[in-house]
Amino acid sequence: MIILKSRREIDRMKAACSIVAEVLEGLRSLVCPGVTTFDLERFASAEAFKHKATCAFRGYHKYPSSLCCSPNDQVVHGLPNKKPLKSGDILSLDFCVVYDDLYGDAAITIPVGDVSDAAKNLISATEESLYAAIKMAVPGNRLGDVSSAVQTLVESKGYSVVRDFVGHGIGRSLHEDPQIPNYGLAGKGVKLKPGMVLAIEPMINEKSHEVAVLDDNWTVVTCDGGLSAHFEHTVAITENGPEILTRIF
Ligand code: MF3
Ligand code: CO
Repeated sequence: MIILKSRREIDRMKAACSIVAEVLEGLRSLVCPGVTTFDLERFASAEAFKHKATCAFRGYHKYPSSLCCSPNDQVVHGLPNKKPLKSGDILSLDFCVVYDDLYGDAAITIPVGDVSDAAKNLISATEESLYAAIKMAVPGNRLGDVSSAVQTLVESKGYSVVRDFVGHGIGRSLHEDPQIPNYGLAGKGVKLKPGMVLAIEPMINEKSHEVAVLDDNWTVVTCDGGLSAHFEHTVAITENGPEILTRIF
């Protein structure tokens, strides 16, 4: 069941979403060669605490951290560790907080130092695909229009869409209906209505879409060792079009 949010509830979600956006921007400015993902985890937790927000990933299905840190061939759910990042890495960061009983969720992929053109292009195509999807998040369109916007854009550039993980409705819980695949057919799926709030999150691989989970039971990696990028925004569908909630208000 898709829970529609009132204008007031959407406005209340901006508090959680804005904290997430601010923390991710803070993290972006910290990322450089030599920094560890453990340092980033500490920063994210401390910032959330300052804002009196709760880190939503910590403890979710026993996930052990507040921040998902997924470098290079890691797709999502990478665990922070004490290994220094090095120039040429790319790093996906996914963060979610609860504030005022409502959730905000967003992700970015950041280049570390000097990265290859291949890495830069994957990052920009993935971010571009998120914005192409958001553009389709208007009343009267269907969910498949959102999904196919991602798929069409990235496949035209030779990349592939991860199938095993999808975006989701969000608000009173981290994961609400509907599931939002990053692949699908335009014109198909549920009709989008004002009050739906979606966490749209393309996870895009440089080579094959196939992924596997490491022995830690969390870290998702590409099977072929190719790079992966991830961008996510929490977006409200309104009469006036899509509203990106995970920005600094
Ligand atoms: N990446 C997922 C999302 O954005 C959430 C991670 S769940 C956790 O929906 F278990 F890793 F915490
Ligand atoms: Co999400």
